[in-house]
Amino acid sequence: AQAPIAVTIRADRPGPKIDRHIFGQFAEHLGTGIYGGVWVGPKSKIPNVRGIRSDVVAALKAIRVPNVRWPGGCFADEYHWRDGIGDPAKRRVTVNSNWGGSIENNAFGTHEFFDFVEQIGTEAYVSINVGSGSYQEAADWVAYMTADTRNTAGQERAANGHKEPWRIKFLGIGNETWGCGGNMRPEYYADELKRYARFARNYNPAQVTLNNPADPGAVNPNRMLRVAVGPSDDDTSYTEGVMKAWKGRDWSWDIEGLSMHSYTVVKWPPSYDSVNFGEKEYADLTAATLKMDARLKTHSAIMDKFDPEKKVTLIVDEWGVWLAKLPGSPEGFLQQQNSLRDAIIAALNFNIFARHADRVRGANIAQMVNVLQAMILTDEAKMVLTPTYHIHKMYLPFQDATFIPVQFAAGEYRQGTTVLPRVDAVAARSSDGKLWLSLVNLDPNHDATIRIAVPGVRARAASGTVLTAPQVNTVNSFDRPDAVVPRPISAQASGDALTVRLPSKSVTMLVVAE
Ligand code: AHR
Repeated sequence: AQAPIAVTIRADRPGPKIDRHIFGQFAEHLGTGIYGGVWVGPKSKIPNVRGIRSDVVAALKAIRVPNVRWPGGCFADEYHWRDGIGDPAKRRVTVNSNWGGSIENNAFGTHEFFDFVEQIGTEAYVSINVGSGSYQEAADWVAYMTADTRNTAGQERAANGHKEPWRIKFLGIGNETWGCGGNMRPEYYADELKRYARFARNYNPAQVTLNNPADPGAVNPNRMLRVAVGPSDDDTSYTEGVMKAWKGRDWSWDIEGLSMHSYTVVKWPPSYDSVNFGEKEYADLTAATLKMDARLKTHSAIMDKFDPEKKVTLIVDEWGVWLAKLPGSPEGFLQQQNSLRDAIIAALNFNIFARHADRVRGANIAQMVNVLQAMILTDEAKMVLTPTYHIHKMYLPFQDATFIPVQFAAGEYRQGTTVLPRVDAVAARSSDGKLWLSLVNLDPNHDATIRIAVPGVRARAASGTVLTAPQVNTVNSFDRPDAVVPRPISAQASGDALTVRLPSKSVTMLVVAE
């Protein structure tokens, strides 16, 4: 039998806020991520509101999605927003050259996106086209979205059906400009960035910083955050280049965020299967995902050099496990199943982001529906919630909670030559004052007994939910949608501590009764 693991929750040493935006989503025009997955059109037999499927909206509302990044990804740098406004019958039909050459009829454009944002009750993260667009095109789009009707841009939006300006929470200035977004050197991109950051102006009266004579330095909490392209995985050239430019900025431009993309893959192109894999593949991908921590340390250290006050947030706006495409699925649609393994990977990443809460104040899993590590899979009228969806639901109390440090000796789980921690733990105090503990048992073969102590607090009990399944490769399918769903779990008080037995290969979220 394995020895119990002691976990000490340092409730007396609260840390930074865990920004709810680390639970953001990403919805690209890619495969059936939008068309079929979100948009079915108003004439569809699938229940919908103004063309947006109601089952998907209900599921996303239940996980309180903080923001949705759109329209890409690589797609964003070939997206021309005027193609997607006005009479749907007259919209341009284009080719989605990045993703399978599918026909893009632009039925889902700016108005449909913001309708979706409003239906699920989230905030907009809009990526503007730097790769193949122009400063003028980007400036006109942001004006169209945010200006009021004293302005021609606002009048055009109103004539197309939406009088009130929309609110853009995040504005992505290009996507992967080191690759699909234009293959630019960091210095070249930094020069481009300065112009987009200056001219893509937000006019929404509620977002524009007010000059408050009593507090001239005050920041409008509703302001739009401009997000520059930043690093990919371990490559630090953009981190250095963009942050160096930022440090040398003057009054004429600024950014508030730096994007990072880091997928869980063992090697490119992704070849690991999303179904019917074994323990080795589980361990390999879990080891790969844990590299996120070292990557965040590396990029945060560079950012600290230029920005010790941590004004610029690091936003991991593409992350998740990228697997081989499902046999028979179209090329370029990035369709994969989603297993208990992927749920464990999601939880480990949330724990890492929480530990970096001082710098990482946003993240977007790739992608929301039907693409890569999705929350939701659809097939015509059918819909299923994935194990990764359930992790998002279990972590709801972490949204805008306060990070609480946890001390524990993780132990080891070995698979061949791969050595992984046996358990992981992160705690948080939610905005309603409750103390939460997330526990991951990475070992697929052994339960783990955890003894939880909270110095200075008489913890009476703890209860919550656990996500596990018979195998790490168990998935939810349309036929078996409940193979991996959260179930109740509780910890027992014994002396000064609480004891909980974590099933092998599981994620547990407990609330501690103080
Ligand atoms: O998420 C799929 C693709 O991965 C995105 O379009 C791109 O930004 C990244 O390379």
